[in-house]
Amino acid sequence: MATIQTQPNAAPVIQALRSIGYNAQTAIADIADNSVDAKAQYIHIEFEYEMGNGYIKIEDNGTGMTDAEIQQAMTFGSKDPREKRAKEELGRFGMGLKTASFSMGKRLCIITKKDGKISERCWDLDYVSDKNEWLLFTTIPNEIRNKIGQVEGNSGTIVFIDRLDRFCGFGTHKVLKKDSYYSKVKRIHRYLEMVFHVMLEKGLLITINGNALYPWNPFLQGNTRRIEGEEQMIKVNKKLVKITPYVLPHPSTFNQADYKHAGGVKGWRDQQGFYIYRENRMVSFGDWFGMFPKDVPSELVRIKIEFSNEADDDWKIDVKKSTISVPDEAREDLQSIAKFYRKISQEMMLYRTKATRTGEKIKGTLNTWELSTDDVNSSYILNRTHPVITEILKIVDSDARRKLNVYLKLVELGSPNNLLKTANMVKKEVQQIDEKSKKLIIDYAEVLFSTGIELDIDKVAETISMMAGFEGIEIHTIKTIIEKEVDIDVSSNT
Ligand SMILES: Nc1ncnc2c1ncn2[C@@H]1O[C@H](COP(=O)(O)OP(=O)(O)OP(=O)(O)O)[C@@H](O)[C@H]1O
Ligand SMILES: [Mg+2]
Repeated sequence: MATIQTQPNAAPVIQALRSIGYNAQTAIADIADNSVDAKAQYIHIEFEYEMGNGYIKIEDNGTGMTDAEIQQAMTFGSKDPREKRAKEELGRFGMGLKTASFSMGKRLCIITKKDGKISERCWDLDYVSDKNEWLLFTTIPNEIRNKIGQVEGNSGTIVFIDRLDRFCGFGTHKVLKKDSYYSKVKRIHRYLEMVFHVMLEKGLLITINGNALYPWNPFLQGNTRRIEGEEQMIKVNKKLVKITPYVLPHPSTFNQADYKHAGGVKGWRDQQGFYIYRENRMVSFGDWFGMFPKDVPSELVRIKIEFSNEADDDWKIDVKKSTISVPDEAREDLQSIAKFYRKISQEMMLYRTKATRTGEKIKGTLNTWELSTDDVNSSYILNRTHPVITEILKIVDSDARRKLNVYLKLVELGSPNNLLKTANMVKKEVQQIDEKSKKLIIDYAEVLFSTGIELDIDKVAETISMMAGFEGIEIHTIKTIIEKEVDIDVSSNT
């Protein structure tokens, strides 16, 4: 069949490539990946504001590139993504350097040195758009040579991005204010401390504007109170995946600063979940991938999952190295592992049960609370067979027993976990009362009426509306539910 050579138009393609969804954090991380791949011992990152007319510079002392190599590196699709990559290599698509840079600014200059020989190239998107051709400059513009500086030592690379329209509004009428600019830099700082924590722990030096990054380890390496679960290996499409679950210590064991730090960039509740690593670089964090809700009682669980770049296809790693999808083959295993450790977290959060040994089954007859039903629709009930309550119930008369049972029911309904769940639901859909909240309202009302204290509907509705978790529901809604669902005459007579 006949074919015809069809060259893509440079200008629109470049515009499209600028918009594949990087943010500043994932973009800088993708560029730093290249320095790691080039075996750099340090990566110095500089953000210069200059009233929005500044630049970003990423300098490393890695292997550097020859002239042929930098020419290749500046080409879109410099390597075939289907090629097998070296062990530990972070690159995959032959795109990152260009797409990440252009997601922030319009000009990308590179100076590199290998075996003492210097080479340079420069992409200027305004020029490319103007000519509508893929024209790469073989030298960098003189006016910025001073800012870029020189590669020190025998080898290394400087990546220099300026005309930062997307990063800070250069050339637009919405230039980022200086404060916002440096807040953004701060967020990048914290993000890199997280995604590169393994490399940082192994001695890689990364600095941002002269400040060294410190590894942020999600599993609180070195904390003797954490529970390290059993390491497990599973196979996905014949490739090994390593899973190491952790349950972090109860919040009360931290001082305030440590507690906040351990919460990470998104805070304790949002940082629970799976942490996925590809060749020691975190590519996804704090996510249950739709298997579970993120609730406070489970917030102590963080599960490490490691796969190698050979498995990129199975996990569908994207160009930005920031999203993956869990292979169907792994889902069930991950879910059951997570379920087990979530239960441990829930028990620790609610009863502060001490757990020291790995994988120890914590439940015992001395627990005051028990988890009822399955994990997704769990609620907590009091352990009515606890020896102390059994003893009391034995010696009191039937009236006192009835009152005590009413009180225990109230405690149960008001348990922080049961309320929290209700609170979350209420927040989502204010006047659309879900079945669970409705049931709680009915339960509360029935219990209140059954105390024998004289109460009318208005009083009961008002009391319930003031309870934690029901703030979002209007009194008349509660009243309607009680009127419809609670048999007041019968229950108040019992
Ligand atoms: N700092 C650097 N030091 C040495 N070589 C580099 C550096 N940055 C990029 N390169 C070279 O340029 C090539 C292209 O980089 P680019 O990030 O575009 O693609 P990649 O890393 O191969 O794959 P991916 O798109 O997944 O990042 C790299 O494969 C590497 O050979
Ligand atoms: Mg790369």
